[in-house]
Amino acid sequence: MTARGRQAVGALLLVLAMGALLGCNPPKEEEGGKQATTQVAKQQAREIVIGADLELTGPTATFGQSALKGIKMAVDEINAAGGIKGARIKLLEQDNKGQSQEAVNVAKKFAYQDQVDILVGAIASTLSIKMAAVAEEAELPMVTPASTNPAVTVDNEGNVRKWVFRATFTDDFQGEILARFVYEDLGAKRIAIFYDAGQDYSKGVYQRVKDVFTSLGGEVVAEATFTQEDIDFRAKLTKFKESDFDVLVVSGYYDKAGLILKQAREVGLDKQVVGPDGFDSEELITIAGEAANGVYFTTHFAPDDPDPKVQKFVQDYKARYGGEDPDAIAVLGYDAMYIIKDALMRAESFSRADIRDALETVKEVSVTTGTVTIDQQHNAFKPLVIVKIVDGKRSFFKRFEPPREGQGSKEETPAGAGKEG
Ligand code: PHE
Repeated sequence: MTARGRQAVGALLLVLAMGALLGCNPPKEEEGGKQATTQVAKQQAREIVIGADLELTGPTATFGQSALKGIKMAVDEINAAGGIKGARIKLLEQDNKGQSQEAVNVAKKFAYQDQVDILVGAIASTLSIKMAAVAEEAELPMVTPASTNPAVTVDNEGNVRKWVFRATFTDDFQGEILARFVYEDLGAKRIAIFYDAGQDYSKGVYQRVKDVFTSLGGEVVAEATFTQEDIDFRAKLTKFKESDFDVLVVSGYYDKAGLILKQAREVGLDKQVVGPDGFDSEELITIAGEAANGVYFTTHFAPDDPDPKVQKFVQDYKARYGGEDPDAIAVLGYDAMYIIKDALMRAESFSRADIRDALETVKEVSVTTGTVTIDQQHNAFKPLVIVKIVDGKRSFFKRFEPPREGQGSKEETPAGAGKEG
């Protein structure tokens, strides 16, 4: 190469280098003016703000309280271990009182006023479905730790919501496993279903259990609904006694399910009761007392699961929270933060758009409740656990791995468990 040639190449390289220093990384169009400025400010402050919109009071207050305990534990661990590439996670929390409108108000405040980077919550699907619309409009990544109704991540037209993700399986999976468990393991051919007509979650589980149970050759011989206002279920439970069935499926949350279990016993309805993850709270046992024994429910975790990851979590949680046993929502809150951490570590920047892209590509991340992959519907592909209440304690009964392509779901029962199933 001639001297001139070398000079020309040198000049070109210099121009390229200057371009790289000055002209690159203009704020992305979609971030808009104000948001872009806040994002830049936050990146300089090396802080990622997460807004937790949770049911901390109201009829299902243990949902929000447990989730928050798990979330805080994970955030403290992540920050103590150096944060996300040096950036600290800052957690904002606000009570939505278990009400849809409040959940929406809190989500809007987080999105527009506090300018959070990620919205986390809620637990009840009805609330998360409402919050999802806010997240879409604000173009804010949202992760619900525990809402299982399919409509959280998919809108009315069947389109996947771009900004909304969940750290759990859906009720399509849960309802199917519950129906199969009742039919195959409990050997029931005739069931009755009692469900909460005011919750998207309970209605969805009811429908899925009914569809799958019927397709297996079983029959739903009686059904009835209840609402949030009900506290006396005795008349309806007495009516169930007129039908001939083997198992009663109660699709609802622990506050109502606890009363139903207790009152079923009072009216002499002595059928096996099963339910979905809404049963998962210590409060179910407190409310139902003796009547909770023998109940099975599908959920995400059992505190006595021998898996070493689960045992480590249980010990750390107990040490931090005065000996209290974690419930499924506590561990889902905790795991949701580690799923978010995985995404943040891979995100090109901490802009909302880049965080969203990284959430979409979460793949085989190992968390307490299993190995998680986010699928095309923005649902977590992960295992399910069946818990049995024995002597007033939630005990591990069985784990179901989600079906791989071309295979059925796999069961796993630890030695000693599941003999009587
Ligand atoms: N799956 C429930 C819902 O979508 C919430 C829940 C999760 C409740 C885990 C208890 C345990 O509404």
